[in-house]
Amino acid sequence: MAGTGATMTPMTSLPPGYRTVAVPLDRKSEFLAVDHLAFAFEPDEATSAIVPDSLEWDRCAGVERPDGTLGAVHSSYDFDLPVPGGEVPCSGLTFVGVRPDERRRGLLSAMIDFHFRRSLERGEPVSALFAMEAAIYGRFGYGSASDSARLTVPRGARLRDVPGSETLTVRIDTIDPDRHADLVHAVHVAAGAGRPGWVTRTTEALRRGRVVDPPAWREGGEPLRIVTVHDEAGDPRAYATLRRKENHTAAGPRFPVTIREAVAVDAAAAHRLWSFLLDLDLTSEVTTGLLATDDHLVSLLVDLRGATPRLVDNVWVRLLDLPVALAARRYSAPVDVVLEVTDARLPDNAGRWRLTTLDEGADGWAAEVTRTDDEPDLRVDVRELGAVYLGARSLAAYGRADLVTELTPGTLRPTSAAFAWPVAPVCSWIF
Ligand SMILES: CC(C)(COP(=O)(O)OP(=O)(O)OC[C@H]1O[C@@H](n2cnc3c(N)ncnc32)[C@H](O)[C@@H]1OP(=O)(O)O)[C@@H](O)C(=O)NCCC(=O)NCCS
Repeated sequence: MAGTGATMTPMTSLPPGYRTVAVPLDRKSEFLAVDHLAFAFEPDEATSAIVPDSLEWDRCAGVERPDGTLGAVHSSYDFDLPVPGGEVPCSGLTFVGVRPDERRRGLLSAMIDFHFRRSLERGEPVSALFAMEAAIYGRFGYGSASDSARLTVPRGARLRDVPGSETLTVRIDTIDPDRHADLVHAVHVAAGAGRPGWVTRTTEALRRGRVVDPPAWREGGEPLRIVTVHDEAGDPRAYATLRRKENHTAAGPRFPVTIREAVAVDAAAAHRLWSFLLDLDLTSEVTTGLLATDDHLVSLLVDLRGATPRLVDNVWVRLLDLPVALAARRYSAPVDVVLEVTDARLPDNAGRWRLTTLDEGADGWAAEVTRTDDEPDLRVDVRELGAVYLGARSLAAYGRADLVTELTPGTLRPTSAAFAWPVAPVCSWIF
């Protein structure tokens, strides 16, 4: 970020004649062709016409081969990443793809160097992403910073009572992007207030992309429906986008319900929403979208054991400008600690940093982060700092796994407690 002097040394040499380049809008079809080849899909014309282009073309880049064609592409979104007690400018890495015949030649590595440099030039001290495969990004200093749960809940599962739920009303409609995009966005923003990781859809295209329903995506299910919960004034308090699928068995109808996203602004709205979703005629079970591990549903289910969970890594975080990033969040407890940081890709982050909390505000302890020559208390790699940044993971657990070293006895536990946060981070959609 400006003023901190963050620089980087490119670590990766590309094959001779290859170079990293910005990819402007007039190369869109070439960019998408590489991406389709990498991700093994090809949208039909009808789908392409319906799904909005969410790419920000001044943030698209790739690797050009000696013949001038693209061998690899990536892009990023201009996000504000909610962090404990605040938010930080964030480069949301996306559309990363390398042609299958150019794999394992360092193209991704070169693009990551390019992405880091451009993000820092734009003043983005943090990058975040969803990893298609979990083994890809740790080597670049991204840490898996949150988990999300997908629950499969049997129809009729009971919920604990929540006062006020009974005054709310529910309706179900076929989704209509023109009608529902704004409602979905408003509830999504309100529901995520104070939750780390809860990236909101910052552009019209991203907002619309969450509510479109090209027939090719239905896989034999019904058109996308939307269930909305309203208060007595008619204002929306929760929504779920979902699809049921016909399944007639000898024992009768057993339609599965698949939820794309379910979001509620408070417990009463969540109770009303899930009471409706878990009691749809003809259905047998409901599979949720990406839920925080402390989502209202987890607290309200009488029999959590009856729900089959699938826990998956959610957002990954990379600290690009370490002092700015660490000072951008709040801490749960006072701490004064010297971190000896390793960062193989961004050497400006490496070395000793003193993290000292200042004042306690309503949203936790503010902190300053300064260079120091003092003896270090903890040795930690930037990957683990990214992993604990949103407050879900524990420095102490990484200490037990020998991924963090306690150099001054007694400093790991309080530092771990300071980084922890009472609201579990999650991003409810994959970007
Ligand atoms: C994943 C992908 C981007 C990797 O690109 P690449 O150009 O082959 O990566 P690089 O050559 O720069 O590899 C760098 C290192 O990461 C490792 N690596 C790359 N992809 C990996 C994967 N999927 N699993 C495990 N390791 C991986 C390489 O083995 C290499 O390790 P090394 O330095 O020890 O030799 C590419 O294979 C691809 O496009 N896959 C399909 C689409 C996809 O998954 N995109 C990512 C979306 S989040």
